[in-house]
Amino acid sequence: MSQQLTPEYLINLGQQFGTPLYVYHAEKIREQYQRLTTAFQGSNTVFFYACKALTNINILKYVCGLGANVDCSSINEVRLALHAGFPKERILYTSNGIAFDEIAEAKDLGVIINIDSLSNLEKFGNKYGHSYPVGIRLRPNIMAGGNLKISTGHDKSKFGIPVDQADQILQLVDKYNLHIADLHIHTGSEIKDVDVFVKGIEILFDLIPKFKELKFIDLGGGFKVPYKEGDAETNISLLAKTVADAFANHPNPGGRPLQVWFEPGKFLVSECGYFITKVNVLKDTAAATFVSVDSGFNHLIRPMFYDAYHRIENISNPNGTPKRYSVVGNICETDTFAWDRTINEVREGDYLVFYNAGAYGFEMSSNFNSRYKPAEVLVSGGQAHLIRRRDRFEDLLRNQIEL
Ligand code: LLP
Repeated sequence: MSQQLTPEYLINLGQQFGTPLYVYHAEKIREQYQRLTTAFQGSNTVFFYACKALTNINILKYVCGLGANVDCSSINEVRLALHAGFPKERILYTSNGIAFDEIAEAKDLGVIINIDSLSNLEKFGNKYGHSYPVGIRLRPNIMAGGNLKISTGHDKSKFGIPVDQADQILQLVDKYNLHIADLHIHTGSEIKDVDVFVKGIEILFDLIPKFKELKFIDLGGGFKVPYKEGDAETNISLLAKTVADAFANHPNPGGRPLQVWFEPGKFLVSECGYFITKVNVLKDTAAATFVSVDSGFNHLIRPMFYDAYHRIENISNPNGTPKRYSVVGNICETDTFAWDRTINEVREGDYLVFYNAGAYGFEMSSNFNSRYKPAEVLVSGGQAHLIRRRDRFEDLLRNQIEL
């Protein structure tokens, strides 16, 4: 049975901890992780949680306890992962466009590193030669993903070393006797079509024989989760079968079995998250009835930044007559969460919940308009734990230097 928190329970949490409030349901994360491991059972596949989606330390500890590995996109995420208890061998740092110092730091911390530019690969070779294994992030020149802003593998993307520069990569490998342990691609987020992963694999198969010490193929993250009712999800079982078939059709010429890695973010933590807000003001106009909640793009930016759809429910009025509303925030900018959306009749003081708010929700929040970041609660084993207190006024001044 799918893990889901009930509206009544969410209202209680809103009353107990105040709003706006992020709530995460631990058992849902476990369910999602188990869906992956079950689908890929018997195959040599490892999952690295792309923790940029949600880095609360308690989430990291929970994911670590599940047995997943972790994928980091900054040295501070690496430090958080270590702090959460991930052993260095289970931490992957997929860097992009960073100063070489940070790669050196990651090497000193002993984690797995993916490099995404010829420039940093050359610096790495120059400093470490063959002594430390390293992975290469390639840009496969594939267009995929739910929105151009989250498509990373296409031929105009900044990410990875373009596959058409493979010769230059090989020259560096040769020149510095680099120990290349993995090849990485990540084509984007919200990839529904499993064939996109196969296309990526096909591109890598051409290159695999050229890297004699290769052990891992990293296919990145980007599994699609359903945001709307009726929305499709990446078919994980089909993906497992398709990847297995692709490998069966292309036995590694070196004869070495390659382990496959994935880096899911949204798939693990999107659906575990609920964002609870309270209605401040109702405003009837000729164009729309506006529902202003006690939040804005300072707390959940996905609808404004990616035109993302989040299901919104009036949990205070489950039997209310459905009406059309535009749900907006209280930020001094246009911060529309949803235009012309059908929601059960809304009254001032009602609680509205935004679903699928676990991934890139709190994580992309800010203090814009000098408003406080929301509190976060983790529900685990039927208990609700406050895992981040709401900001206070002193937090707004914390790093400022008054002259
Ligand atoms: N691996 C790499 C190298 C990535 O860059 C990403 C996401 C992932 C894995 C995980 O992708 P996921 O499984 O979560 O789709 N803020 C945007 C999503 C940006 C994703 C950035 N990279 C959003 O809210 O839709």
